[in-house]
Amino acid sequence: MAELIDGKALAKEVRAEVKTRADAFRATHNRSPGLHVVLVGDDPASQIYVRNKERAAAKAGIEGRVHRLPAETSEADLLALIFELNGDDDIDGILVQLPLPDHLHDQTIVDAIDPAKDVDGLHPFNSGLLVVGRKGLRPCTPSGCMRMLEHVGCDPKGQRALVLGRSTLVGKPIALMLLEKHATVTIAHSRTEDLAERVRESDIVVAAVGRANLVQGDWIRDGAVVIDVGINRVDDGTLTGDVDFEGAKDRAAYITPVPGGVGPMTIAMLLSNTVDAAEARIM
Ligand code: GUN
Repeated sequence: MAELIDGKALAKEVRAEVKTRADAFRATHNRSPGLHVVLVGDDPASQIYVRNKERAAAKAGIEGRVHRLPAETSEADLLALIFELNGDDDIDGILVQLPLPDHLHDQTIVDAIDPAKDVDGLHPFNSGLLVVGRKGLRPCTPSGCMRMLEHVGCDPKGQRALVLGRSTLVGKPIALMLLEKHATVTIAHSRTEDLAERVRESDIVVAAVGRANLVQGDWIRDGAVVIDVGINRVDDGTLTGDVDFEGAKDRAAYITPVPGGVGPMTIAMLLSNTVDAAEARIM
């Protein structure tokens, strides 16, 4: 029977650390670390995410501000706002909530963010630092997953780690982070053959595809550590991960629940990145 990795509790711990650092920053520099979030349009899920970020920032001693722009905002206007935020010395972190409306290109907009303020870790400069194994701002969800592994004493060194999904936001960066910790990493995706077999031979499974119950419980190796990044709304309205939790929990040593697993860690790591950015910028 697996032990649950309680993301809510661990996120609380991380947010308390952030608050201590944010308070110390304010005491030294006479201002709080500043995080500005840009939301374009009225996607309901994005609105909830952004509101949660705003609240969490305030509680952690971070000066949070949300810029809500209409869905029809032009690329030029959005870029103008980003350049303004880049140039404001009191702003340490800039996050543009994705996905953007269709007429705006995510990458063009992310590329415009000052890499030193890119608390999402999505700017190609920061991706590059991750690839070469240097310090930099790293994507929040993968950082949260790594923190969860560390929390349960799971050292990836020499372990067979399987990442399902190759997204820029999660799959690719977490594969690099696991590699940095000396795991033997496999990245599986929609074209992968024998997925069940790949899962069966893995000590660490990170599922980040976005398909409910894609990973069957009996594929999980006895004693594996399972990190489920998926958040899928199923027909009865409940949220479920990419892994069949009920089946997997009898086999795994540790498993993250959905909800209450990886989700809360993402915001906590965003706040942590914001304080990292604030400290790095004044050095
Ligand atoms: N939309 C869903 N997840 C994320 C995230 O981590 N960052 C941003 N900017 N948008 C998102």
